[in-house]
Amino acid sequence: MTNKDIAERGQKVVMNTYARFPIAPIKGKGSYIWDADGKQYLDFIGGIAVCALGHCHDELQQVIRQQTAALWHVSNLYWIEPQVNLAEKLIDISGMDKAFFCNSGAEANEAAIKLARKYFYRNKESGRNQIVVFNDSFHGRTLATLTATGQKKYQEGFAPLPPGFAYADFNSLTTVEKLISDETAAIMIEPIQGEGGVHPADPVFLNSLRRICDREGILLIFDEVQCGVGRSGKFMAYQSYGIRPDIVTMAKGLGGGFPIGAMLATDKAAGGFAPGDHASTFGGNPLATAVANRVVELVSTPAFLDNVNKLGGYLRESLASIKDERIITVRGQGLMLGVEFSTPIRELVTICMENGLLLLGAGANVMRFVPPLNINEKEVNQAVAIFKKSLQEW
Ligand SMILES: Cc1ncc(COP(=O)(O)O)c(C=O)c1O
Repeated sequence: MTNKDIAERGQKVVMNTYARFPIAPIKGKGSYIWDADGKQYLDFIGGIAVCALGHCHDELQQVIRQQTAALWHVSNLYWIEPQVNLAEKLIDISGMDKAFFCNSGAEANEAAIKLARKYFYRNKESGRNQIVVFNDSFHGRTLATLTATGQKKYQEGFAPLPPGFAYADFNSLTTVEKLISDETAAIMIEPIQGEGGVHPADPVFLNSLRRICDREGILLIFDEVQCGVGRSGKFMAYQSYGIRPDIVTMAKGLGGGFPIGAMLATDKAAGGFAPGDHASTFGGNPLATAVANRVVELVSTPAFLDNVNKLGGYLRESLASIKDERIITVRGQGLMLGVEFSTPIRELVTICMENGLLLLGAGANVMRFVPPLNINEKEVNQAVAIFKKSLQEW
């Protein structure tokens, strides 16, 4: 089967929800993947910030082999040891108190929205059900999370959208203050906006959100689905801001490619849920949590996170040193970087791909770099060289 064969068959039977590039990756190892025509690519998308340890990591393969021989799935009607292990690890590292497991980022955010509302309902304040969210954010594709997403293009055609969301401007305290009322239950924000263009929150702004939440008795929710699990250079991005949210969500990197999501909360916020309030059939099953345990063990060590900071800094400097009039700025944290251009970059993505480097956009004008977190200097140099060559051809 060639790329073309697979694409032609796919077009007939797979629903038309993605503007796909005409290649079909069939093999991966480390930071590289190969398509059905045998062409090799350096993968700086990593399944969109998912493959934290690169492709087909030996230790993750071993865990999967062991766990598939022991137990794949049982219901959350019973205690699941790898799930308990994972919850203990995440709580220990993050400073939160309780974990809920699901299968994706949108599901984790949906859980966070439900928990915030139920928390106030249980505290006899059911009138507090509004969530302040941000323009240019991205929280997922379920009805509630696409409504929380402050980008009209994702919402068009899906009316009626669920009520209860109000939109502030990212990094603008005055717009947040204007929206706070005695109906506000929570403020929900990505500490580093991903899809919206790789924008880290201003530290003073994020700290002020914490203060507003404390002052008003409302909950602060961080969506770390993209920036969490080591991507920012800290295990959780909020750890570099010196504050703790009441609820935090994560997904993408958590399973290193195996689907899993999580919502962590403080004991106080977690008290909003009682048995029957929320559930997920597959959430936290033995196979997914066994893999995530190993990912968390590997990603959370100081040496691993040092490498994310070191290589992230090196990649950022290398990108910033490129002389091209169309580049406006390079920004981001750790290995979540964006290069903003003065023009749309879709064609540049294709040229990079043809030259053997996989990249993707974050909004129309920003090129996103979210490679595996265990990349090395040689791979960074190779990526930058291909990127420069592609810029010349663009
Ligand atoms: C910050 C953020 N939240 C939520 C999501 C949705 O995650 P998923 O696609 O796993 O539902 C994404 C996906 O890109 C994201 O970047």
